[in-house]
Amino acid sequence: MNSTGQSQGNALIEDIVTRTVDELTPRGLFNFNAPRQTLMGEGAILKIGEMLSQLSVSHVLVIADRIVHEKGLMRSMQRSLERAGVACTIYPVINQEPDETVVANATELLTRNHVDFVLGFGGGSALDAAKAIALAGSCQSSLQQMAEPGFKGRRVIGLGAVPTTAGTGSEVTDISVIMRADRKHKYVIKQVDLMPDLAIVDPGLMLNLPPLVTAATGIDALTHAIEAYAARSSHPLAKALAICAVQSIAEALPIVVGNGGDVAARLTMATAAYKAGLAFSNSGLGLVHAISHQIGARYRLAHGIANGILLPYVMRFNALVCQRDYAAIAHMLGVTRTGMTEREQCMASIDAVRQLLSGIGLPGNLAGTNINRDDFGAIAAEALEDVCIRDNPRDVTEADIVQLLEDACRTTTNE
Ligand SMILES: NC(=O)c1ccc[n+]([C@@H]2O[C@H](COP(=O)([O-])OP(=O)(O)OC[C@H]3O[C@@H](n4cnc5c(N)ncnc54)[C@H](O)[C@@H]3O)[C@@H](O)[C@H]2O)c1
Ligand SMILES: [Fe+2]
Repeated sequence: MNSTGQSQGNALIEDIVTRTVDELTPRGLFNFNAPRQTLMGEGAILKIGEMLSQLSVSHVLVIADRIVHEKGLMRSMQRSLERAGVACTIYPVINQEPDETVVANATELLTRNHVDFVLGFGGGSALDAAKAIALAGSCQSSLQQMAEPGFKGRRVIGLGAVPTTAGTGSEVTDISVIMRADRKHKYVIKQVDLMPDLAIVDPGLMLNLPPLVTAATGIDALTHAIEAYAARSSHPLAKALAICAVQSIAEALPIVVGNGGDVAARLTMATAAYKAGLAFSNSGLGLVHAISHQIGARYRLAHGIANGILLPYVMRFNALVCQRDYAAIAHMLGVTRTGMTEREQCMASIDAVRQLLSGIGLPGNLAGTNINRDDFGAIAAEALEDVCIRDNPRDVTEADIVQLLEDACRTTTNE
């Protein structure tokens, strides 16, 4: 073919490609949102000054957990910021799950002090508060407005997260959970701009965490991993992160509960919580979180404890449509044997979760809580409105949730 013929041929191919691309219908797309920068490892916190200085930050407002502040865990951060010449206001206001008042007060403080970066320092409660404050302060919006699906406000103030628990993964999620003023209901706000710009994950900050909090937060991470893996809209990237997190949690959680000073195991847990956070933020959760958001707020049950109780019951309910996913989870939990059917592996994963809960000293049912059967109808109705419900792999009705709560109130199980 001469060169004129060749260039006509190329133009024809180009035309066909362009037309084909134009006519394609987008299907099965997934978007992946993550922090721009993560520093992970022992002593990572010592680098915070340098990192914020590189981002040209001049004044950081630190929304801090009060206990973490009192334990002196913020000193390395303060020294690092001082050395880098970054001004810092510490607001150690978080002593329980944050509510609307905390967010409103801190947002006012932020505006008054001309802050250009908000840093959450503590467990999920401090991180979620910092995230809501940075967004609310950027666009002067209320939590109610931010929770609306069509909300258009953008964050212009920088946002960073330093987790001191290995559970929520809030340092890598675009979600913030804030109690309403009545402290009986929660806003679960999902907005792209709630994703921190910077995450600093240092296992050294987690060594003091008491065994019960370690266990509860670790089970929260396991719930994220299992729900994200089996979520209706889970995609390969989220699945890969989630399944890897399940394996790490099975290995490291009993160790950190029994020996809190094991830095290597703490790092494994922190990394697993990070992976599980990325997985669920990008693929969704499910029925465990849809119910636990309701009962956690009403009965002041710690988030991880509520999730742990519900997880095996929800897995048993979802098993109808999740056999293969749960069989893969059983494999990662180390409870499969040659010759087992997929169904047996699926059921083994549920037993393994129960065993793990009892091994680390967490309750396996709702019997010891102050939950009230008269509220079951209302809890079920509210759970069906929760943002997490849409990703549950199995369709759910109000009656299913009431039945599940009834089952979870019995002290013995029939599996
Ligand atoms: N944003 C998200 O994606 C997301 C995901 C899951 C849960 N959540 C929310 O996160 C909150 C729960 O967070 P959490 O489970 O991390 O608990 P938390 O932040 O409430 O902390 C639990 C307890 O541990 C203490 N603590 C924290 N770090 C410590 C340390 N290093 N040493 C000693 N004590 C320490 C705190 O003072 C607190 O008493 C809930 O509001 C939940 O709804 C958010
Ligand atoms: Fe959670």
